[in-house]
Amino acid sequence: RSVLVRSSSSAKQSLLHRSFSSSVPERKVAILGAAGGIGQPLALLMKLNPLVSSLSLFDIANTPGVAADVGHINTRSEVVGYMGDDELAKALAGADLVIIPAGVPRKPGMTRDDLFNINAGIVKNLCSAIAKYCPHALVNMISNPVNSTVPIAAEIFKKAGMYDEKKLFGVTTLDVVRAKTFYAGKANVPVAEVNVPVIGGHAGVTILPLFSQATPQANLSNDVLTALTKRTQDGGTEVVEAKAGKGSATLSMAYAGALFADACLKGLNGVPDVVECSYVQSTITELPFFASKVRLGKNGVEEVLDLGPLSDFEKQGLEALKPELKSSIEKGVKFANQ
Ligand code: NAD
Ligand code: LMR
Repeated sequence: RSVLVRSSSSAKQSLLHRSFSSSVPERKVAILGAAGGIGQPLALLMKLNPLVSSLSLFDIANTPGVAADVGHINTRSEVVGYMGDDELAKALAGADLVIIPAGVPRKPGMTRDDLFNINAGIVKNLCSAIAKYCPHALVNMISNPVNSTVPIAAEIFKKAGMYDEKKLFGVTTLDVVRAKTFYAGKANVPVAEVNVPVIGGHAGVTILPLFSQATPQANLSNDVLTALTKRTQDGGTEVVEAKAGKGSATLSMAYAGALFADACLKGLNGVPDVVECSYVQSTITELPFFASKVRLGKNGVEEVLDLGPLSDFEKQGLEALKPELKSSIEKGVKFANQ
């Protein structure tokens, strides 16, 4: 009898498995900058994601090696490496999601805005190609300064006549990952259970964690909350200084990028209630781009959620971040329209 039960339940499982796999759509994910410090571990993590059927790895150099290496992993997606501008069209064709960690990282003493001169041009070219070869793809922008590169992308897409504000995302997930880690340490709660929204942008004071909304709740003093906020805002600099000239966050960023990409794919696939913080076109404040909680759906952004109640400290932080974020947005818009 036990054999019978086992075999019938395993037949059921195999049926369930078949119907599950046949209902998981084909999804092509392209990573631009795939041979870099973020690109390589991100390629690895996306290769482990069962929602991906095709993984396209593009860079100006070294992608054949990365693709051959990652491609030997026995998971669902087929992996193809593309190298150099001549192969960008093929890398992008048919992509559902494009993740962009292409560009230079900071060294100690630099701000993210110091990367603008090099990375703005890289992002501009890559976005022109996206407009041409995969205009319907969701775009996850990782390249810094995110506060400006996202507006640059929007302007390039507008010029190409295919801009859909629902499909463009600045990846701020690393700020959320950091806020969760730092909060769990101080609040003495299990880190896996922690949720903390992070709003604003992705540079210094424009990063505003809302610890007043953190769960599980903890009774932390104002001094601790101020220190937690500052550490989250300076998290990127903490890594840049620790790496002492060898770049910025790559491994934690790959983790955060993979989390956000997975959320985008789930949304595309119709999974309900997928909510993540992201820097998107927004009417939540007077600024045209702003990071806040966003509900993801079949077309990208389904809803930009409002900020919820803020503490007085957070209200001050919100007002304080606006001038810098506004000027970074304007800088990006101006560059794209030169
Ligand atoms: P990296 O130098 O290790 O890698 C960048 C890769 O981009 C390189 O392989 C390079 O060849 C490639 N590249 C350069 N120009 C390109 C082009 N035109 N097309 C395709 N690829 C191109 O740098 P990294 O550490 O991986 O960081 C990449 C970017 O991500 C930096 O701008 C960094 O500031 C940013 N970043 C953002 C976050 C975030 O939270 N959003 C976190 C960490 C880093
Ligand atoms: C980060 O937050 O780690 C990234 O934006 C990289 C950086 O320059 O700090």
